[in-house]
Amino acid sequence: MSLYTPFKLGRIELTNRIVMAPMTRSRSPGNIPTQSVATYYAQRADAGLIITEGTAPSPNGLGYSSIPGVFSPEQIKGWRLVTDAVHAKGGHLFIQVMHTGRVAHAQNLPKGARVVAPSAIAAPGQMFTAEGMLDHPVPAELTTAEVQATVAEFTHAARSAIEAGADGIELHGANGYLIEQFLNTASNQRTDQYGGSVANRIRFAVEVAEAVAKAIGGDRVGMRVSPYGLNGGMVSDPETDAVYTALAKELSRIGLAYIHVVDHAAMGAPPVPPAIKAELRASFAGAYILSGGYDLEKASADLAANKGDLVAFGRPFIANPDLVTKLKTGAPLAQADHTLFFSPGDKGYIDWPVG
Ligand SMILES: Cc1cc2nc3c(=O)[nH]c(=O)nc-3n(C[C@H](O)[C@H](O)[C@H](O)COP(=O)(O)O)c2cc1C
Repeated sequence: MSLYTPFKLGRIELTNRIVMAPMTRSRSPGNIPTQSVATYYAQRADAGLIITEGTAPSPNGLGYSSIPGVFSPEQIKGWRLVTDAVHAKGGHLFIQVMHTGRVAHAQNLPKGARVVAPSAIAAPGQMFTAEGMLDHPVPAELTTAEVQATVAEFTHAARSAIEAGADGIELHGANGYLIEQFLNTASNQRTDQYGGSVANRIRFAVEVAEAVAKAIGGDRVGMRVSPYGLNGGMVSDPETDAVYTALAKELSRIGLAYIHVVDHAAMGAPPVPPAIKAELRASFAGAYILSGGYDLEKASADLAANKGDLVAFGRPFIANPDLVTKLKTGAPLAQADHTLFFSPGDKGYIDWPVG
């Protein structure tokens, strides 16, 4: 078995085990994907599976400027350009549904939207806004009824993604955004059924997974998690392993297509202990996507050792639209210019040479 062995993921047949990792590129002015976004993903359609950039399920989830949403008719139309372009090249695509929660700023949100979170605790540090770098604000604590309304926002987004032609959705449970804000004590000090014990802290993630699985089929849903990650002020505590193991078991029961475990050691975070990675693999019946700092050698070794079924590559896809071919032939990889990761326009986005 190699990176080029096909894989059946839920309802779809992937031609290889190389996944394009979700990467925000901030090229959707007004939160609507453009023709350039369609071109960008179509250029990378050789990946067995593309997981798109983080995409908001509702106005409150649009914490960064120029990220797409997947809840309005205009956004669905924009995503249709993308899914048609990727499918025309034989590729497959899941839209990553990301609610930014407290990692947001009023400056970036559309009119009427609010910075919300499990508890009224600001994320540390600052974020980019039209007025430059500003402190993360203290978010409004969601009421119990609002938590349940937020679950419904995810359901609407999942339906919208399917209406737009996506093959499925990935729930962004990683990197310190809303779902992880519920899992983590740094951002969740609630006293209702969504805070406190392990069972309570995973409840929001489980309810979202259950609701979207009911709406579009669990075989079209995955979840990304980043245990031990530090993004957005997350902390680990003595219950971290118990939280993720319990969550993986619930997602398995619900019948999700995959769990996507990202280890941010390559980005400077403490490595995810191998024991918890193995525990998550054992606890979840569906596919397992490995992610974080992979190159050909490490990907091949981890697949051979059966640590996962699929391997996600992030940064290498930015400057190498033909990454799948380059890995196969051993061609050298181009290096991306990080100053163009989130810049507006096509430069550094769809102008990387193929072959
Ligand atoms: C420009 C950029 C944007 C990213 N945006 C997202 C995102 O929207 N959602 C997400 O889950 N991860 C995001 N990530 C993290 C990547 O998916 C991946 O986990 C990270 O780059 C490490 O993998 P790599 O070593 O293969 O690049 C982003 C990373 C980069 C470099």
